[in-house]
Amino acid sequence: MPIDAKVLFMNGEYTPTEHGVISVRSHAFAYGTGCFEGIRGYWNEEEGQVYLFRLREHYERLLRSSKIMRMKLPYSVEDLIEQSVELVKRNGQRQDVYQRPVAYKSDEIIGVRLNDLTDDYLCTSEPMGNYVDISGLRCGVSSWRRIDDNAMPARAKITGSYVNAAFAKSEALLNNYDEAIMLTHDGHVAEGSAENIFLYINGELVTPAPTENILLGVTRDTIIQLAAKELGITVHERQIDRTELYIADEILLCGTGAQIAPVIEVDHNSVGTGKVGPIGQKLQDLYFDIVRGINKKYINWCTPVY
Ligand SMILES: Cc1ncc(COP(=O)(O)O)c(C=O)c1O
Repeated sequence: MPIDAKVLFMNGEYTPTEHGVISVRSHAFAYGTGCFEGIRGYWNEEEGQVYLFRLREHYERLLRSSKIMRMKLPYSVEDLIEQSVELVKRNGQRQDVYQRPVAYKSDEIIGVRLNDLTDDYLCTSEPMGNYVDISGLRCGVSSWRRIDDNAMPARAKITGSYVNAAFAKSEALLNNYDEAIMLTHDGHVAEGSAENIFLYINGELVTPAPTENILLGVTRDTIIQLAAKELGITVHERQIDRTELYIADEILLCGTGAQIAPVIEVDHNSVGTGKVGPIGQKLQDLYFDIVRGINKKYINWCTPVY
C-alpha cells in the first residue's frame, strides 16, 4: 500500500513520497541494521491543531538506539523535532498521524558488521487509526521468547529485532488471539509484540523492570507518571511470573501504536471479570484527553504543529 502522504524527509530534504526509495543492495535491507521510532500525532478538531506526543522522548530514544548501533546521525533532538513538525505541515495533515523516523546503514555492500558504515535517515508521516482493538484484547503467551540483551539489545528499537516480534504476533493471530505476550529467556513476563505491559494486582500496578529485555516505552513512562499523579497508585517495576497473568485483576498493553489497550483474556483465562476494568478505563480516558491536547495539565508533552 503506498504511503498516503505527499512528502517525506530523506537525505536531508523534504522530498516527494515517490522519491523515497532505497537500494535493493542496502545494508539495512539485507541485515536489518536500522533503528526507528513510532510517533503519533493527534488531531484536535476544536482547536484545528495536530499535537505530536512526547517528541523529545522519542527522539532521545532514537539517538540512544543509534548509539548502540554505532551510528552517527547529523541531527540533534531539536533538529529531529523540527523536521517532524515540518513534515505534518508540508503534508497538510489535519488528522491523526503516525510518524516513522528510521536511521539505517545505507552502504551497498556485502558484509555483516556495524562499524565503518554510512548512516542515512528518513522520516515518514501518514494517517493512522487504531493499531489494535482498544476495547478488550485476548492474548496468548508466546512460545517465542523475547530477544535477550546479550543476543540483540531489546532496549534499542532495532529494525531487525522486529522479526522476533513478528514470529510472536503471527503465532498469536494464527491461534486466534489478538496479541502475543512474550516471556524472557528465564521465563518472566517481558512485553507484548510491540507493547509494554502492566498488571493491576492487590491495588498496585506492576510492570517488568528495564532489565527484563523490554523496550523502555514512552507510553510506559506516561502510565507510570499518570498512575502516581492522577490515580494515586504505586507502580512497581519488578520481575513478573507467567501465572501472575492469570490472577491479575486487570492487565494493560501500552505503546504508541497500541495506545492503552486493556487485556480481557490470557491463555483462555479471563482477566478479572473478563471486561475492561476501572483502572484501565480511567487511564485510557486520561491518555486520550492528554494526547489530543484537551487536558492542558500535560500540554508540555504535546508539540503543536500549526
Ligand atoms: C517491542 C515494543 N515494546 C514496547 C513498545 C512501546 O513503546 P512506546 O510506548 O515508546 O511506543 C513498542 C512500540 O514502540 C515496541 O515495539
